[in-house]
Amino acid sequence: MSNTLHFPKLFEPTRIGQMELKNRIVMPPMGTNMATPDGHVTERIRSYYEQRAKGGVGLVIVETTCIDAPVGKTTAYQLAIDNDRFIPGLSQIAEVIHQHGAKAVLQLQHGGRGAKSSITGIQPVAPSPVPMPYGTQVGYEGEMPRELTVGEIKDLVRKFAQGAQRGRRAGFDGVEIHSTGYYLVAQFLSSTANVRQDEYGGNLRNRARFLLEIIDAVRETVGEVYPLLCKISAMELGPGSGITPEEAQQIAQMAEEAGADALEIAAMLWGIIPRLPPPTAEAPGGLLPFVEAMKKMVKIPLIAAGRITPELGEKTLQEGKADLIAIGKGLIADPELPMKAASGRVDEIRPCIGCLRCIDNQTVKGKGIMCSVNAAAGKEREFEIKPAGRSKKVVVVGGGPAGMEAAIVAALRGHQVTLYEKQARLGGQLLEAVVPPHKDNLPGFVDYLTSQMTKRGIDVRLGIEATVELISAARPDAVVLAAGVTPSVPPISGIDRANVITAKQVLNGAKVGDAVAVIGGGLVGCETAEYLAKQRKKVTIVEMLDEVAGVMPLALRKLLLARLAYMKVTVLTGVKCQELTEGGLLIITKEGQEKTIAADSIVLAAGGRPNTALLEELRRTVPAVHLAGDCVDPRGIAEAVADGRSAGLAI
Ligand SMILES: Cc1cc2nc3c(=O)[nH]c(=O)nc-3n(C[C@H](O)[C@H](O)[C@H](O)COP(=O)(O)OP(=O)(O)OC[C@H]3O[C@@H](n4cnc5c(N)ncnc54)[C@H](O)[C@@H]3O)c2cc1C
Ligand SMILES: Cc1cc2nc3c(=O)[nH]c(=O)nc-3n(C[C@H](O)[C@H](O)[C@H](O)COP(=O)(O)O)c2cc1C
Ligand code: SF4
Repeated sequence: MSNTLHFPKLFEPTRIGQMELKNRIVMPPMGTNMATPDGHVTERIRSYYEQRAKGGVGLVIVETTCIDAPVGKTTAYQLAIDNDRFIPGLSQIAEVIHQHGAKAVLQLQHGGRGAKSSITGIQPVAPSPVPMPYGTQVGYEGEMPRELTVGEIKDLVRKFAQGAQRGRRAGFDGVEIHSTGYYLVAQFLSSTANVRQDEYGGNLRNRARFLLEIIDAVRETVGEVYPLLCKISAMELGPGSGITPEEAQQIAQMAEEAGADALEIAAMLWGIIPRLPPPTAEAPGGLLPFVEAMKKMVKIPLIAAGRITPELGEKTLQEGKADLIAIGKGLIADPELPMKAASGRVDEIRPCIGCLRCIDNQTVKGKGIMCSVNAAAGKEREFEIKPAGRSKKVVVVGGGPAGMEAAIVAALRGHQVTLYEKQARLGGQLLEAVVPPHKDNLPGFVDYLTSQMTKRGIDVRLGIEATVELISAARPDAVVLAAGVTPSVPPISGIDRANVITAKQVLNGAKVGDAVAVIGGGLVGCETAEYLAKQRKKVTIVEMLDEVAGVMPLALRKLLLARLAYMKVTVLTGVKCQELTEGGLLIITKEGQEKTIAADSIVLAAGGRPNTALLEELRRTVPAVHLAGDCVDPRGIAEAVADGRSAGLAI
C-alpha cells in the first residue's frame, strides 16, 4: 500500500518480454570478484545477492559472468559459465533471488582486450590489435591484444549461446549480453577498437555483426520468448572513443530488430576519464538525456542508470524518459534501499558517497567487492547484526564515522548507548572532509549517521570531552574509543611561525595569503590545495614521498591530479622541508638541491597520530574497551565504518 503512496511509478509492476517484475527497480550487473579462482559461486556471493533481493529490488542482473575462461576473464575471481559444472552454483544464486520475489537475469561477458594476461596467463584477444587506450585509468595495463580470426569469432558466438542455455538451466529468468564498457562486444562496436577490414569491421552494421549474431544464436538456443537483454553504451567516452550517441541509437535499433527484449544503458568511463575542465563525479542522472533520446528510437523497455536516486527514478519514470531504473552503487551501499523507499523512509537509506572503492578494490587491488559506507557489502554473514544476548551499558567516545557506526550497531543489537563528542557537532573529520570541491556526496552520509543517532535512541552528549572519570562514573560494561587523531606537527624549524596554519583551520574558513605552500601531499593536502586553488591562490604542494594522494582510488586520484594540473598547482615530490620562514619555505629537492618556495601562508597537512590518550587508563578502569577508526591507525572512511561495525558487534 505504502509503495503506491511514496513512489507509485517506481513500485508499479512491469514486464520485460514474458518476465513479470514486481517493481521497476533493477540491480544492474556489478562484478564482485568473489568467485573461486576457477569461477565457481561462493557462499559470499550467494549471501551478497540474497541480501539485495531481500531488500525489495524487482530485478537482479547478476554480475559479469565469463563465457570463455580464462581468456575472457577481467578479474581473477570472476564467475564463469563456460562449462556445465558451473550450473549448480549459479542455480543457488537464482534460487535465493527468487526466494525474495525478485527475478534473476545473468550477464554474459567476454573481456576481450580488457582481460589481463597477468590474470589469465594468455595474451588477450580483440577485434583488432589495438590496446585499450584508457587502460591505466582503470588499473589495466592496456596490453596489445591478438586479433581474433573469423573462425574464433564464430566460436565465441556459439559460446555466448551456450552460456545463455546454461543460464537458463541454472534457473535464471533471462540473460543479458554485456555489450558495453571495455568488454569484447563493445570493442567490436567501437570504430577505434575495431579496425578490421572484413565483414566484422568498417561500417556500423559490420561492427554490430558480432552482437547481432550473438543475439540470433542465443535466440536459437533458448527460444523466442526467453527474456534477452543487452547492455549497451549510450556512447563511448574518453580517449579513443569510437561509438557516437547517434551510432549508439542505431545499435539499439539493431538489437531490438534482432530480438532483444530490453536494453540497459550505460556509458563506459562516465565520470572517470579526466576531461578539461575536469568534472567531478558526474551529476546524478547525467546519462538520462541519452536514454531519453534512445527511447524515441526503440519500443522495447529501456533501463536507465547513473547515480539515480529513488526520487530521480520516480521523476524519470513519470516523465516517460525510461522504463526501469537501475540503482547499482546505491544497492551496494544499502541493500534495503527499495524497502525503505517504499515505506517512505528515504532518510534511512545509507547513501553511496561515490568514492569508487567498490570498483578500485577489484580492478586495482584485485580483491573482492567492498563499500566505504557499508562494511557488510561482500561480508554479509561476517557483519550480520544480531541481537545481543544481554543489553549492556555502552559509552562511545567520539562522534566521527567510527564512533557513530559503533553506536548505531550497538543500539540495533539492544544495548543502551551514550556517545560523547567534544565538538558542538557530530561528524568528526567528515565536517572538514565535505568542504573541498567535489565532495558533494559526503554531506548526505554525515546527515544519515547523525539522524540515525536519534532514530536508534542513542544518548548523544555534544560539546563534552569524555574523560576517564566521566566515563567511569557512568559504570559502562563496554567503551568504544573512536577518538580519531591528534594532528602531527613535523619537527621543522619555524613551524610555530604566525604564517603557519593547519589544513583543518583552512577548511574551517581561516584566511590565507595569495601564495600558499601546502606541506603534505596526502588526500587532505591535495584536497586543501584544490580548495585554495579554486579561490585563485597560487598553490604549491610539498610532499616527502614520491607520489601524492597515493591512498585514493586510482580513477578519482587521476581526476584530482588532472584538476590540480589544470589549476596550475605545483606539485613537488621527494622533497624535504628544511625551514619555514616569513617569506615561505626552504626545501631540499629530490635532486638534493636547496630551493626556496615563496609563500605568504604555509598550510600543514601532515596527517595525524592515533589519539589514544585515554586508552591505558580506560583499560584499567572499565570491563571492556574496543578501539575503532583513525585512533587505531589513521586511514579513511571505509576503515572507520568497518571498525565501528566490528566494535558494535563485539560488545
Ligand atoms: C579534509 C579531509 C578530507 C577527507 N576525505 C576523505 C575521503 O574522501 N575519503 C576517506 O575515506 N577519508 C577521508 N578523510 C579521512 C576521514 O575523514 C577519516 O579517516 C575519518 O573521519 C575517521 O573517522 P573516525 O571516526 O575514526 O575519527 P574522526 O572523524 O576524527 O572522529 C573522532 C571524533 O572524536 C572526537 N573526540 C576525540 N576525543 C574525544 C573525547 N575525549 N571526548 C569526546 N570526543 C572526542 C573528535 O572531536 C572527533 O569528532 C578526510 C579527512 C579530512 C580531514
Ligand atoms: C563495483 C561495480 C562493478 C560493476 N560491474 C559491472 C559488471 O559486471 N557489468 C556491467 O555491465 N556493469 C558493471 N558495473 C556498472 C553498473 O552496472 C552500473 O551501470 C553503474 O554502476 C551505474 O549505475 P549506478 O550509478 O547506479 O551505480 C559495475 C559497477 C560497480 C560499481
Ligand atoms: S564503495 Fe563508495 S562508491 Fe562504492 S558503493 Fe560504497 S560508497 Fe558508493
